[in-house]
Amino acid sequence: MGKIILTGDRPTGKLHIGHYVGSLKRRVELQNSGEFDEIFIMIADAQALTDNSDNPEKVRQNIIEVALDYLSCGLDPKKCTLFIQSQIPELTELSFYYMNLVTVSRLQRNPTVKSEIAMRNFETSIPVGFFTYPISQAADITAFQATTVPVGEDQEPMIEQTREIVRKFNSVYGEALVEPEILLPNNKACLRLPGTDGKAKMSKSLGNCIYLSDPEDEVKKKVMSMYTDPNHIQVSDPGEVEGNTVFTYLDAFCKDEDFEKYLPDYKNLDELKDHYRRGGLGDVKVKRFLNSILQEELEPIRRRRKEYEANIPYVYQILKEGSDKAEAMAARTLKGVKEAMKINYFDDLEYIEEQARKYKSQE
Ligand code: TRP
Repeated sequence: MGKIILTGDRPTGKLHIGHYVGSLKRRVELQNSGEFDEIFIMIADAQALTDNSDNPEKVRQNIIEVALDYLSCGLDPKKCTLFIQSQIPELTELSFYYMNLVTVSRLQRNPTVKSEIAMRNFETSIPVGFFTYPISQAADITAFQATTVPVGEDQEPMIEQTREIVRKFNSVYGEALVEPEILLPNNKACLRLPGTDGKAKMSKSLGNCIYLSDPEDEVKKKVMSMYTDPNHIQVSDPGEVEGNTVFTYLDAFCKDEDFEKYLPDYKNLDELKDHYRRGGLGDVKVKRFLNSILQEELEPIRRRRKEYEANIPYVYQILKEGSDKAEAMAARTLKGVKEAMKINYFDDLEYIEEQARKYKSQE
């Protein structure tokens, strides 16, 4: 069996640079590494509906945004399969069988579900679909026989839950499912990029995101108004780099070569940080440097996006072809699952003969 990737995102908004350093950039590298036999990237619209049932139009409108973000980051439909979750009915069927292998108390202990329930004020009015989405996520992963799931660390409990379901299924019914491994981002600063205001998380409602689709001047405006060290008032003041968002972004984006190009007075980020800590280095200079780096990274993404934006029907065609291919794979897995569960009655001639014999002996 080869190496297979499955991962995806909920289409609830445009993707931002946190998604980019946290996952998209890595996906493109994995795609181009040639190490994987198949790469499936899913737009998880059905999962997005589990907590957006009052706003299905938001999910519907963001399918194309996420698809454009994927393609513009360099995911190549010739090398990976981009598809839409709701178009693969086999995923729901698998979920229904997996539901028997998971208890309510186990779901209640899932840290992601727990914190999202708290965040959304769901308490006991939690929709059943939302409560059970870890099971549906296990179906997403196992349907494609994924060996590798590149995701952010917030998804760790989901992968653990999937592994448990796989082990349980295989022990009850026989080895039919592949146990996946999580693949976390390799740079610590990329685990979770804070918002431009210094808040722990980028979120649309806080207005603290830099989007991949933001135009150049918008990115610059956002960078120049970023949160830094509130006690670093005069240029000559010593400053803190820990918890200073501009430096956190530099940790995530900056390479040594960037200094040669944009800030030749320093060799690397450590030197820049030392100067900031000592005092004598102004925020504006550091922000300008970060802006140059971000613009260089985002420029090809913006360019590719423009090309795809000019041909939206082609993007839907990519998604349709991807969904067809994904469904064929999921159908194969489902067939194996039903065989393992021995609920493939009509293909199981021995079973039919056995029933026939049973009745014959009663004659
Ligand atoms: N839960 C993921 C998120 O919120 C999206 C997702 C759905 C996913 N199914 C998946 C990720 C399967 C990895 C594998 O972003």
